[in-house]
Amino acid sequence: MQDPQKTRVTGRFWSPDKETDRIGEEFDADACDFCDRYKRRGLSKSSRLLLDFILDEGVQNRTVADLGSGAGGFSIELLKKGAASVIGVDLSSKMVEAASELARVSGFEGRAKFQVGNAAEAELPSSDIVIIDKVLCCYSDWRPLLKNAIDAGRTMVGFIVPRDQGLAKWPFRIGVRVVNIFQKRRGKILFYLHPLETLDRTLQDSGFTQQKRQGSRLWLVFLYTRAPTRA
Ligand SMILES: C[S@@+](CC[C@H](N)C(=O)[O-])C[C@H]1O[C@@H](n2cnc3c(N)ncnc32)[C@H](O)[C@@H]1O
Repeated sequence: MQDPQKTRVTGRFWSPDKETDRIGEEFDADACDFCDRYKRRGLSKSSRLLLDFILDEGVQNRTVADLGSGAGGFSIELLKKGAASVIGVDLSSKMVEAASELARVSGFEGRAKFQVGNAAEAELPSSDIVIIDKVLCCYSDWRPLLKNAIDAGRTMVGFIVPRDQGLAKWPFRIGVRVVNIFQKRRGKILFYLHPLETLDRTLQDSGFTQQKRQGSRLWLVFLYTRAPTRA
């Protein structure tokens, strides 16, 4: 009997409940590229924008949770700028290995911990700064992921999502639809353009204020802050 959780797509079954496995496997294959790119060129333009937003608010002695930390470049940059410690969570064990090695060779082994896990479900320590850099677009269920970030984030939540606004909106939407047809056929992970207004409302309802927002060519970069009222 056909599993009702599975959707038949042109001769193949696409199973949403295996999404986390697929994300982990696909990004395992990319871990070396991510790490090499960071070593050669540093952070991407959009990540540098988010880093600057965070630096403007102050990073000294602050704790960081990096959700979907990838090869760890963003975390390492925050540590270089004076962050107290970082915890990174990623579904890809190869990304976690690459990030841990990067922390070791950068001299931050004692202040950075990277672990395999689903950032939408992982138990996160309360952290001053939470970042979600180009991760929401890989994961279907943005609500628990953002909620986990909000619950953990004491003063800042920064995230980067595809540029699903303004003139780029329709080309992006069409492009993502087309790409997802092929991704589904190949049983690969899908790309998501989550509703930016609902993301914004969710953050505002949780006491965050949009502090900064800027677009790069392909991405939108957001920083939300809230007054540090919690211990
Ligand atoms: C496009 S990469 C970005 C990596 C890193 N943040 C950066 O900007 O270089 C997306 C990363 O998010 C991870 N990821 C996606 N969904 C996740 C989830 N629900 N929990 C943890 N990691 C996730 C993937 O494994 C991958 O390493």
